[in-house]
Amino acid sequence: MAPKGSKEPPSTIRVGKIGDFAEVGVYNQFKSDNFWIVHLPEGLLVATSTICTHLGCIPNWLQNDLKFKCPCHGSGFDMAGINFEGPAPRPLERHKIWLEGDVVMIDKAFIYREELGQWTDGNSFVAV
Ligand code: FES
Repeated sequence: MAPKGSKEPPSTIRVGKIGDFAEVGVYNQFKSDNFWIVHLPEGLLVATSTICTHLGCIPNWLQNDLKFKCPCHGSGFDMAGINFEGPAPRPLERHKIWLEGDVVMIDKAFIYREELGQWTDGNSFVAV
């Protein structure tokens, strides 16, 4: 038996029902947990890491500009997380995401990187 309170925080998170993310856009309410749920126009739901791939600052989602903008050195990422301006060398990372019934689950212990071809992995998105 382990002492009470010795467990690491679970990396698996129930983020809500699939219907909570019905609209295309960025769901910002999980930013303090270091991820965004993003419903992409092509019909994919992804869990995007908030960690800038330059030096690790936390970008902001700018709804008017439809981009993530890092306050530290100006890197910009589109809604899909692709870097297109500033010094960030690669896209934002994604976490594992899946459905349990109609509940959206993510696991932050799993990382999927676009530049390694991992965004085609079926565990890196949910088709909606
Ligand atoms: Fe984000 Fe440098 S840490 S641009």
